[in-house]
Amino acid sequence: MAADPRPRLEAGPDKDRLLLEPEVNAANSLQELGTALGDCQRCKLAGGRRSIVFGVGNSDARLMFVGEAPGEEEDLQGLPFVGKAGQLLDKILGAGMGLSREEVYIANVVKCRPPKNRNPQPDEIVACEPFLLKQVELVKPEVIVTLGAFATQVMLRNRVAISKQRGRWQDYHGVALMPTFHPAYLLRSPSEKRVVWGDIKLVMARLGLEQG
Ligand code: URA
Repeated sequence: MAADPRPRLEAGPDKDRLLLEPEVNAANSLQELGTALGDCQRCKLAGGRRSIVFGVGNSDARLMFVGEAPGEEEDLQGLPFVGKAGQLLDKILGAGMGLSREEVYIANVVKCRPPKNRNPQPDEIVACEPFLLKQVELVKPEVIVTLGAFATQVMLRNRVAISKQRGRWQDYHGVALMPTFHPAYLLRSPSEKRVVWGDIKLVMARLGLEQG
């Protein structure tokens, strides 16, 4: 079998700190990771959820999208980005990039819906983040696109406004990461779609994808 050319996640103090549970650490596939997640009771969001929204798409995707947390529709269906914001993400993918959902991998930082869609709290992020890191390690995308301030700030460990850090390449454990605005924000501020299209074009150029 030919060696996989994509880099493994770089280890570091952060990674060592995050992957504490042996079963999570040892998972060799997304399926095994889902088994390690189980009927997760690691944080208080377990009490109010209908589904765990683990992630969806190609387990070998070159491109991964990361959002904040499931909303009501996602909680109902058990799938990420299937509400109004998700429909816009589908347009960005399909009409913009010429890609289908099946070709990319889509996940959230937090896998259970926070009550009334409030922002996830620090203990909830700490409980869930190892699973995101491990999803990245298993999928091995060449590019991660973070959608919105929350996912960007959690993954990059900063508090920089999304308007200040979108459109610039960053690094997540050795994987190129492009922050951009959240599609829910674009629904409220459609004039920013142009800016997101600029960010997406940078991603397409990096992946060698042709514009449709
Ligand atoms: N917003 C997110 O950040 N994630 C979803 O899955 C849906 C809406």
